[in-house]
Amino acid sequence: MTTLDPWGAVKIDNYSKLFDEFGISTFDDILGKIKNPHRYMRRHVIFGHRSYESVLGAILSGKPFAALSGFMPSGKAHLGHKMVMEELIWHQQQGGDVFLAIADMEAHAVRGKSWKECRELGLNEYIISAIALGLEPGAHIYFQSDFNLVKDLSFELGIRANFSELSAIYGFSGGTSVSHMVSALAQSADILHPQLKEFGGPKPVVIPVGSDQDPHIRLTRGLAYKINMFLVEKRGTENRFISVRGKAAPREALKEIAKHTGGKLYGEHVDISKPRLEEVDLEEVESFVRKVEMKYGGYAFVPPSSTYHKFMTGLQGGKMSSSISESYIALTDKPEDGAKKVMRAITGGRISVEEQNKFGGEPYKCCIYELLLYHLIEDDNELVKVYKDCTDGISICGDCKKFTAELMGNFLKDHHEKRELAKETLKEFGL
Ligand code: TRP
Repeated sequence: MTTLDPWGAVKIDNYSKLFDEFGISTFDDILGKIKNPHRYMRRHVIFGHRSYESVLGAILSGKPFAALSGFMPSGKAHLGHKMVMEELIWHQQQGGDVFLAIADMEAHAVRGKSWKECRELGLNEYIISAIALGLEPGAHIYFQSDFNLVKDLSFELGIRANFSELSAIYGFSGGTSVSHMVSALAQSADILHPQLKEFGGPKPVVIPVGSDQDPHIRLTRGLAYKINMFLVEKRGTENRFISVRGKAAPREALKEIAKHTGGKLYGEHVDISKPRLEEVDLEEVESFVRKVEMKYGGYAFVPPSSTYHKFMTGLQGGKMSSSISESYIALTDKPEDGAKKVMRAITGGRISVEEQNKFGGEPYKCCIYELLLYHLIEDDNELVKVYKDCTDGISICGDCKKFTAELMGNFLKDHHEKRELAKETLKEFGL
């Protein structure tokens, strides 16, 4: 059953597996706590998350946090990439430190793009558009291959990742090139590096992604746990104690933790139980343990958080993919070409005008409606009206397409003007 939900352009059923099987939480649970939610949040385009509470807590209390994403410069940036860019920008507006990686190592190793092409595509397709969409100076924009901190961290993380684990996640086999594997670890290093001491140390970091990217997030969270010196957990029946385990931790560090928390010191761990347990909470212990870990040269990474958005449907149905040019609208498409692609897109219309008037259209199956929902109409009331007029059979597809094509043309025209201005500001981003 498809429910009549103006925000439900894509059925959430398709995604419910993610909640059950992979432990992604629904975004609905925390939406109410967000002060000025992004359009994607309000409209349930962002539907899931992992440990986003920590990021939200930092937003609400004015503590440091970061948002990061990476783009592989293998082709044109399209509306799907725009979603991620907007999510980064929103987090910057909430006070976050934003990082934008150009995954040129990945594009070179996996897609065979020359370094020169990687530079050009990275700058022209991704960086300039992200700035035109509203990314402000202060954001850290970098090419992976330029950045020793990330490369060094990826080497370090590589010690904790083995071939079986990587092949289970990425489908690597005996024929996979070593540099392909290296570029997978570079992605994990991208994700964790905002927490290095060079960037102010451990903090919540959110990675906004499409739901297909969850395996990378899980890998990276796993690596963060493995590379950390300590693991802090509630344990025992009914969580009767907090355990701080540190297998390879220096004895002095464990002693310091026992002393400060009032816990009992064992060979490789400290247990904090009653009555001391009543006076401390998990977060407080975590934060102290992190300080000690930093002092003794550990990373003390907070496991990275993520948000998951629905995919954009391709304009001809199926997935929006950069390898099928009719399926997407690129941010550098000419306004008239973008408008034309809209006119050719598949709608949720009925077979005839009579049927349309009688039964109404099916906006939840319609690429055109999705463009309005995701990108072209900011005002929720206006969007609800488009939805209702469609399901009531008042509007017909031809008119709706024309209207959407015009909005798309205008958006692209405006975006291109902003891109010209963005090119003037590259120096402010250290580029
Ligand atoms: N692998 C991603 C892609 O294929 C790009 C990427 C590199 C990335 N580093 C990242 C994505 C860090 C999110 C976070 O597009």
